[in-house]
Parts: sequence; C-alpha cells; structure tokens
Amino acid sequence: MTEPLVGRLVVVGLGLIGGSLALALKAAGACREVIGVARRERTGQQAVELGICDRAVTDLGDILPQLESGDVIFVAVPTLAVEAVFAEMKERLPAGVTVTDGASVKGSVIEAARSVWGKVPEFLVPGHPIAGSEKSGVTAAREDLYRAHRIILTPLDNTAEESLRRIRAMWQAVGAEVLNMPVGEHDEVLAATSHLPHVIAYGLVDTLAHDAENENIFRYAAGGFRDFTRIASSDPVMWRDIMVANRAAILDAIDLYRGNLDALRGAIDRGDSDYLMGVFTRAKAARDHFTRMLAKKAYTETMQAQEVTFIAQPGGVVSGTLRVPGDKSMSHRSIMLGSLAEGVTEVEGFLEGEDALATLQAFRDMGVVIEGPVDGRVVIHGVGLHGLQAPAGPLYVGNSGTSMRLLAGLLAGQDFDVTLTGDESLTKRPMNRVALPLREMGAVIETGPEGRPPLLVKGGQPLKGIDYELPMASAQVKSCVLLAGLYAEGETSTLEPAPTRDHTERMLAGFGYEVQRDGARASLRSGGKLTATKIDVPADISSATFFMVAAAIAPGSDVLLEHVGINPTRDGAINILRQMGADIELANRREVGGEPVADIRVRYRPLKGIRIPEDQVPLAIDEFPALFVAAACADGETVLTGAEELRVKESDRIQAMADGLEILGVRAEPTPDGIVIQGGGEGAVFGGGTVDSLGDHRIAMSFAVASLRAGDTIRILNCANVATSFPGFAELARRAGLRLQGA
Ligand code: S3P
Repeated sequence: MTEPLVGRLVVVGLGLIGGSLALALKAAGACREVIGVARRERTGQQAVELGICDRAVTDLGDILPQLESGDVIFVAVPTLAVEAVFAEMKERLPAGVTVTDGASVKGSVIEAARSVWGKVPEFLVPGHPIAGSEKSGVTAAREDLYRAHRIILTPLDNTAEESLRRIRAMWQAVGAEVLNMPVGEHDEVLAATSHLPHVIAYGLVDTLAHDAENENIFRYAAGGFRDFTRIASSDPVMWRDIMVANRAAILDAIDLYRGNLDALRGAIDRGDSDYLMGVFTRAKAARDHFTRMLAKKAYTETMQAQEVTFIAQPGGVVSGTLRVPGDKSMSHRSIMLGSLAEGVTEVEGFLEGEDALATLQAFRDMGVVIEGPVDGRVVIHGVGLHGLQAPAGPLYVGNSGTSMRLLAGLLAGQDFDVTLTGDESLTKRPMNRVALPLREMGAVIETGPEGRPPLLVKGGQPLKGIDYELPMASAQVKSCVLLAGLYAEGETSTLEPAPTRDHTERMLAGFGYEVQRDGARASLRSGGKLTATKIDVPADISSATFFMVAAAIAPGSDVLLEHVGINPTRDGAINILRQMGADIELANRREVGGEPVADIRVRYRPLKGIRIPEDQVPLAIDEFPALFVAAACADGETVLTGAEELRVKESDRIQAMADGLEILGVRAEPTPDGIVIQGGGEGAVFGGGTVDSLGDHRIAMSFAVASLRAGDTIRILNCANVATSFPGFAELARRAGLRLQGA
C-alpha cells in the first residue's frame, strides 16, 4: 500500500470549510487519521457521529505533542480567530508539520503569523478555498464541496517547498484546482468579487427588513430577491471578521460601486434609457460570459482538458436541408457600421461565433449599446461617426484577423488611443499590410516585432485621403483603408489587383453612405453620415462549403443549403467545384439587403482534378482547405497556384493541409504559392490517423469532412476554434450524416 499523502489531518474549526475537507480527504483515502478540534464538545461529537473525523478534542494543545512530520493542520476558523490558534501552536508544534488555513483574507493571516512568531514561518502555507456556501456549521459539511473549485494559495518567498507541495497535493486529491497568487492581489480580487457582494446582500436585506412602511415586503419577494440575497444568510461572524480584516480593499470596492450606483441613480432620475441600456447590456454580456466560463469548467472537469478533439468515424452519406450560421464578414461589418450609424440598426442572422462576438464586444467596450445577440438578432444603438468612447483597456479580438484589421482603420480616425491584441494565432499574423497604408494617410500606428500584433493606434491624428493600390488581393486591407477614409480629408480610394469580397462597399451603401465603384477602384469621401438600417445576414458560403464538399465526395449524398450568400466576390468555391464536375444547383435566387442569396443543392457525382484558375483564388480564399479535400477525392491531379495568401491565414493553410492529407495517405505537394494534389478518384478511400488542425477552424472542419471518404477513424486535434466561425458545426455535421464525435 502506498503511503497516504497526509499523515494526520488536524482540522481546527469544524464548520462547513473544515468539515468538508476532512470528509473529502478521508473519502479519497489521502490521510491516515482526521482529528477535529472544536471549542464546543458537542460539535466534536457531532463531527465524529457524522464520520467527519475519527476523534475530536476541544483543545489543540492536547494533540500537538502527538503530531509528527508529514501531518497537516488546517486552520478553518473565522479570520480574526486565526491568531489565537497560531498562538496555541507556538513552540509546541513538532518539526515537519505543515500548517495551512482557509481564511478569506490573506493579509490578516500573514499579520497574525508575524505577530505570533515574529515572522511568517516556512511551514505555513496560507490558502483560501473558493468554495463557500450560505450554509454553515458542521452539519453542512459535504464531501464534494471542493470538487472542480479553485483553491488559491498565497505562499511567501520563504515558504518551504515541501510544505507547499503537500498542501497543493492535498487539495488536488479532493478534486480542486490549485493556483498561486500574491497576498495583496488575492485580497483585492476577493474584496471585489466576494466581499463586496456580501456587503451589498446583507445591506439590502437589512434595508428591506427594517422598512417599516413595507412590513409585508418579504411576502412578495420572488426569484430576484432570492437569487440576489442568498448569500445574506451566510455566517455573520465569519463575514464580520472578513470586513474588519480586509478593510482597505473592501472600502475601495465599495467606493467604486457607489460611484456606479450613483450614476445609475442619476440615469433613472433623468429617464436616460440609453445609459440604462448601456449598463444592462454590458452587464448581461459579462454575466453570460461568466456563465459560459463556469460551464466550461464543468466540461474541463470531465474532459480533463479544455482542448477539443474531433473523432471522425469513417463513412457516411450527407442529406437533408441545412441552414449554416450567418456570414462572418457581414456580421463583423454590421456591428461596425451599425455602431457608427445614427439611429438604431437591427440585424438578423448575425453569426454568434467568437470572431464576430469579439467585434461586438470591442464596440461595447467603446461605449456602444448593443442588445443581444439572441437567436441571431442584434440591436445596435448607433453613436454616429464621432460617438465612440475610449475603452478602459486594450481591445482583445481573439482569433479574428478581420476584427483587428478593420478596426485598425476605423480607430485611426478616433481621438483616443487604442491597443488591439489577440490570441496566439493572431499574434503571428502580418499587420503591416494595414499599418503601412494607414501611416500613409497620417495615422500613427505601432506594431509588435516584424509588424505583428499588438497594434497601438494613436488617436487625434489628422488623416488625409490616399489613392491606395493594394499589393495583394485582400478585402481586409481594402476595407481598412476605406473605413479610415470615413475620417480622412478629401477622397480615399483603393485599387485591388483582383476582385475581393465587397461587403464593406455594399453595406456602406446600405447605410446611405456614398461609395463610388469603378472596376477595381472603390472610393469615398469623408463628411457623410451613416443612417441606421435593417440587415439580414445570409448564411455564410464559407461555412456552407464544408457541406457542399461533403455532398460532392460522399456517394449517395443530396443536400440542400438554405439562404446562402452567393455574392459574386465569394462564389469561387461553387465555380471551382462545378469545374471539377460537381452537381450543384442554385435555386430560389433573390436579393436580401443588397446581397444576392440562393438555396444551394448539391448531389454526389464523381469529381475530376483540375488546374484551378487563378482568378478564382480571391473568390474562394477561405474555402481552399475544404476544396483540397474535394481534390483528394477527384480523379487525377489538381493544381493550385497564385494562392500565397493561404500561408498567412489562421495557420499556414497550404502546409497544414498538405501535412494532414499526407497522414491520410494522399499525395499532396506544397508549392510556395499553392499545392499539387493527386486525387484518388471514384471509390478511393483515405487512411485514418491523427491530424493537427493547429487551432485553425477551417482545417479542423475540412478533415472532419474528409472522414466521409476515409477507411479508418480520423482524430483531429485542436478543434476549439471551430467556434470562431461555425458554432454548432459538430452537431449540424452529425445531423447531416457525418459520424463525428467531439463538441
Ligand atoms: C475577410 C477577408 C479575407 C478572408 C477573411 C475575411 C473579410 O481576408 O480570408 O476570412 O471579412 O474581409 P483577406 O483580406 O486577408 O484576404
């Protein structure tokens, strides 16, 4: 038998916190014996009866001589009682015993230790389990209280390694997640997120309870009151102690809150509904985000990691009528232009993926009131071209290159500084392509090394219009320059080397802003205004492509994709697949809010390899990973050239796809600006294997589609970013007929 982690566990204070650790550690078989210390004899008896401890004493001093190296004392008494417990231990504590505590304020525990020992002893590991409950007392103890909860340890420089390791392992043994934090930071964070809510809850209940004119008030108090004030039935002694022990940090938190409450009071008094909507929508978004974080934690608990792996079982036929989520490019632009418009813009079909949500959050951070999204509906209370406000901190746009590049243009015209940051993948992507033209216009922009993010966009710089000839076919660069042009003196124009998506130009026109278009040139003048409108975002052809390819490669398939945007600057995938021989029918063509839309029916028919015309490259730029899978199933060779841009997308898509296809047994030869793929033809099947999507959403979804023609399971690593553009992909794919497991 292996040695238990902890020899004896001595729990001083047999309440919810101490009792629960005792129960959990015993259940985990991680300690030899639990000894409870409770001032009241009856509490100790109860704890023994409840199986919380093996024996109980009323005086810590009685058992100290029995302790030996490897034992742990957990001090779980109210914060201000900690010092007295330390004093009892002084000089009588055998060597090798580790002491830890569970108090909510760490500064005062450190002070208590100093006043008892003259310094903080190295065997003391201050800790705080973030797992309270309004229930208290020994009978409230629960074996699972700490499972999937956080424990913050605040070790000092002189804390013994061995003691820290033991306490960390002890909490992990009961299923908790352990992290370290400096003492001061802990007390500030807890003052804001835990201590302040308790002050408010106690204060509110007390206010209502003493409201003489409303003596029946609790009779009518419903869910809101219950949810909000649950914590006011927590242990008063414990909370009195916390208020005294963390006085300074709690006062700061109260003052901050009081300022906000006064501002809300003012808005209610004035009937300022915009202000109220601003606070409420921002708070709702933050609370929803928190709820998702909590849900992810639960998920992590069962999956052991936050990583998402797709397991695609081989085979399947796709069929049915599907509607994929809203267009990503249009969703971004609807938020941007809606925010800068005058009046209220209503958006339907908005993509609730992480990229578009990053843009939405950025505008909320700049003071725009945005309601939703709820089922794809967003209501934006535009602030006009000059109404944005400086955000409190950097704008984080996650994985989204479109957010960063388009925002850079827009922000160059504001009178405040903004820093734009993103995730690891975005931080590797080139930003000079927008920084250079913006600087030509007079903007001051700093980038990270080699022109990578973060971007610092300086405000208050006068911009002048330029006539910019794009060095690459990029809608993001074109849009960035045009958006800066809204703020630049005179005319701003762009000349593109090949047609790229023109949603910015179309949507500006939809908002009543005049844009001249003359072949490859788009121009606008500053001085106009955007007028709020209604936007119906069609389904994203880039997302639809995965199902178009799926039906095109899986024998027997027949799928109908509804309400898909088929803007001629985006329809390269349809053209390329048709050239390869795919059976694609467009029905019910119509125009929705200035964008052409159709239902797309795709039926299986064997494909042939082709040389992809270079003029189709910008029109299918996001669809190549999926098209490479089609090429791998086609009869003969498919050659792509003129697509070096694929190397600087969310991943190097040429290399990532070539590597993955090779693993599946497909001959795929990358070239500097494209790829040559030897297709297996009708009846050929891929092998299985593990491929890495490198966190690139489109690589992940493409290999999921490849499983339709695989002979063995394909495991796809790093798929969490599928949520950036296609939330619900796995579910929809299963509904369509793929044998896909994973979130
Ligand atoms: C986009 C333009 C394209 C595309 C991206 C979205 C846009 O990028 O790949 O997913 O919304 O303008 P580039 O402009 O870099 O080609």
